[in-house]
Amino acid sequence: MGTAAGDVDERAPPVRFEELTRQTVPSPGGGDAAVSADWWRGATIYQVYPRSFADADGDGSGDLAGVRSRLGYLADLGVDAIWLTPWYPSPMADGGYDVADYRAIDPAFGDLAEAEGLIADAFAMGIRTIIDVVPNHVSSEHAWFRAAVAAGPGSPERDRFWFRDGRGPRGEQPPNGWTSNFGGGAWTRLTSPEGTPEQWYLHLFAPGQPDLNWDHPDVRREYQDILRFWFDRGVAGIRIDSAALLAKDPRLPDLPDGTPDAGAHPYVDRDELQDIYRGWRRIGDSYGGDRVLIGEIWLADVDRFVRYLRPDILHSAFNFDFMTAPWDARRLRRSIESTISAHAVVGAPPTWVLSNHDVTRPVTRYGRTDTAFAFDTKRFGTPTDLGLGTRRARAAALLAMALPGAYYLYQGDELGLPEVEELPLERLQDPMYARSGGVDPGRDGCRVPIPWSGDIPPYGFGAAGGRTWLPQPDDWGRYTVNAQLNDPDSMLSLHRDALRLRRDLPDLGDGALEWVRSEPEVIAFRRGPDLVCVTNLGTSPAHLPRHTGVWVTSRPMEGGRLPPDTTAWLRLRH
Ligand code: GLC
Repeated sequence: MGTAAGDVDERAPPVRFEELTRQTVPSPGGGDAAVSADWWRGATIYQVYPRSFADADGDGSGDLAGVRSRLGYLADLGVDAIWLTPWYPSPMADGGYDVADYRAIDPAFGDLAEAEGLIADAFAMGIRTIIDVVPNHVSSEHAWFRAAVAAGPGSPERDRFWFRDGRGPRGEQPPNGWTSNFGGGAWTRLTSPEGTPEQWYLHLFAPGQPDLNWDHPDVRREYQDILRFWFDRGVAGIRIDSAALLAKDPRLPDLPDGTPDAGAHPYVDRDELQDIYRGWRRIGDSYGGDRVLIGEIWLADVDRFVRYLRPDILHSAFNFDFMTAPWDARRLRRSIESTISAHAVVGAPPTWVLSNHDVTRPVTRYGRTDTAFAFDTKRFGTPTDLGLGTRRARAAALLAMALPGAYYLYQGDELGLPEVEELPLERLQDPMYARSGGVDPGRDGCRVPIPWSGDIPPYGFGAAGGRTWLPQPDDWGRYTVNAQLNDPDSMLSLHRDALRLRRDLPDLGDGALEWVRSEPEVIAFRRGPDLVCVTNLGTSPAHLPRHTGVWVTSRPMEGGRLPPDTTAWLRLRH
């Protein structure tokens, strides 16, 4: 094993989760984690991409034993929960979002016992575990899809998916003109064992991810069962992948010209979803009230977005409006305002997200001329000023951590890792790259294994001298955890300091915000009686509101003013 063991004693017998929930366990918030039903409202949730977090068995790919060995690092960082992207058996046509079996763990990651051990170890350290469930589609290797292919046209097995005959005299045209989110068409035609072209099936993502038919009772029952399976094993929450896409208009009409009325799109944000998730909520609530449902919901209309967050539906959803907004004071303030006011209507806490495994790393994105994120504008060779991007990413992290609600941190962002844009083309794995005909670099650049120690790859990620599933850059020695841990000015220290404050100061996390008057290029707000957060997005130093001291800053002050691209948390009391 190439990774240093954290605080976990591997020889200790695993503790069952049911035993843990009956005990009082240390909670990062200082309370009793076992009984705190609202833990998620102001939580810091750290996203683990298991393939790239830590590799305990030295095969170049991260695993659950690796995550277990690094729980001490995460507890120290000050996170309340981890969200792991899919860990199930998968052909990896889309990084595990093509699930072949929901009741097992991919052998490359470990096994069910390892997953249960991880959940229990984490909980004992005050860290809850959130897992990913992908209801829109399964893998084409899933038993249901294999059975559907084998059973042939017209069979009940095919009704669990969207199989249709093609259009045109020989069915050679796809059933409609929908396109895949990864580029190209959303339909793939099967070929019979005799070699004759057959029916088409729908996949809003890669061909290895056939869409399920949510009008089918088997599908609804199966996912309810999957939720119970994992809640029984102690998971604290479910991140629902592509949560706005599962319900389809069964007529499968072509997309209308222009924007359809709310709820009338053939597969985005349809009203049927609300009832599906109401059923899921009832299941979650039957576990004592502290299990959460978190939607991955990409919707531009915030009023439609918060409909999913009504008290009997989902608890929470990722705030992509904030995540994709450019580094611009007016735009960010508008996003914060509309987020907070729309969430207040339904009583749900907002979430603040700066990145994840699908988008460009913040230090890279903020170092560009166009600082907004959009999937369709990613290109190879975009000029980047990493120094500028890093200053802004530090300021953005402090801003996001001070806002009311939950905060999501994607692994490696606490180290200030840049997007890796020089990966050899033949090593790229993301279907977005291939399906765009090589135009879109895809998402591999934010999924490179993270560096822990040392000066050469794999930087303590796995066995010394080993090859990692995506290659790490040669200059990542300066980004390792070890290199940053004792440097008070490092990105890691900034995150540790701020997350500690976020836990210790009761006015941070869930709660209210009060705007403070400021120059137009400055965002300033108050959290309780003793903290003002000020971010300068302008190009010249900004005046600071009256204060008695400084909790933390993303960069040193200059002559009592706040430099450009800087955030400070100011103290107000003596
Ligand atoms: C979500 C995931 C992404 C995946 C897609 C299809 O957007 O975050 O990684 O490719 O769903 O499952």
